[in-house]
Amino acid sequence: MENPESQSADHLDWVQHELDIITNAGLKRFRKALNFCPDGSIVYRKKKLVNFASSDYLAFSKHPAVIHSARKALHSYGVGAGASPLVSGYTQIHRALEREIAQWEGFDDALVFSSGFGANLGTISALVHPKDLILSDALNHASIIDGCRLSRATLRFYKHKDCDHLQDLILRAKGNFRKLWIITDTLFSMDGDHAPIEKLFQITLKNDAMLILDEAHATGVTGVDARGLTDTFPAELGWKSRVVKLGTLSKALASQGGFVCANKKIIALIKNKARSYIFSTALSPVCVAAARTAIKLINKDNSLRAYVNSLSAYLRSKLLDMGLDIGPSESHIIPVIFRDAEKTMRISKSLLEQGYLVPPIRPPSVPENSSRLRISITAFHSHDLVNDFLLKLKLVLSQN
Ligand SMILES: Cc1ncc(COP(=O)(O)O)c(C=O)c1O
Repeated sequence: MENPESQSADHLDWVQHELDIITNAGLKRFRKALNFCPDGSIVYRKKKLVNFASSDYLAFSKHPAVIHSARKALHSYGVGAGASPLVSGYTQIHRALEREIAQWEGFDDALVFSSGFGANLGTISALVHPKDLILSDALNHASIIDGCRLSRATLRFYKHKDCDHLQDLILRAKGNFRKLWIITDTLFSMDGDHAPIEKLFQITLKNDAMLILDEAHATGVTGVDARGLTDTFPAELGWKSRVVKLGTLSKALASQGGFVCANKKIIALIKNKARSYIFSTALSPVCVAAARTAIKLINKDNSLRAYVNSLSAYLRSKLLDMGLDIGPSESHIIPVIFRDAEKTMRISKSLLEQGYLVPPIRPPSVPENSSRLRISITAFHSHDLVNDFLLKLKLVLSQN
């Protein structure tokens, strides 16, 4: 008898149709199955590559103390949390991590989610009411945008970092909404530039609004105490009752998961309403332990982040000397903008042949005509390596 599964599945034609649209637009996505090496490099198709595509900014994923604490938690707690936090997945070490994050960030309270994406989705949709107005930077991360949409509030985008435009949108909306929310990444992941958070806070105050800041790429690397851009906020501003601050455990903290810090009442509301918190298995205890150690290391020693910041400044200046366009980058995320998507793909491919993984970023991840390579500097990279990369980049550019 003929297997019904082997017959052509006509009822799935719509899937092929959608895949064809993606493929024909040149937007089909592929993953590379890699092996990770202890020195932070990667192996792809038997070739060892320098990884300029990782957010493990402080190289903590391979740090002996981080690995040791993860291993200890693995033996004590097992691999997974086994249930959502409100059922039985919340342990003593989850509570300890939340207290340590709140203390480090200087907030009343904190809540840990099993991903940074879930933290944004859950926090925004829990706090923002359908009768509210959200003003979101045009280049905010997908998880912020999805959180905003989930809230069913009115959503307006202000031009990237443009406070005049933001103020104008607020003026036009005045009075028609229950509450105003201003939402921004603090360190933008595609351009490596900083949000004007002090101006945004002034606008927040002036309009009796609330400010949501996502410090995902800044946590651990940026600011005097490595808590991100808000390290520059003077305490006397009394900003903490108006700010909801989000971060991830999966970038500089080298673990997995996300967190939100805020006033106690706000955290209580999120805990009671955020569906990505309530209906998702709690963060693995192994990741909790790793993140706790990463925070301790960050608080003990600023040399690694100082190194990453100075190496990033060095690379930015050398790329500028070469006449390349690095956009507004002022951080460890450095785009090299070629505009043309095909040229960008070619250069990325040639760099791969030279031993460097530098991901090409094309629309729709970035606006039309702004295709770029995106370099992420981490503590795995040495000055010699960066100099060698610059030589290889010159060579590749001369051939393309
Ligand atoms: C700004 C921003 N927020 C949130 C996230 C999501 O974090 P996670 O990877 O922990 O889910 C990312 C991930 O790239 C991000 O760039």
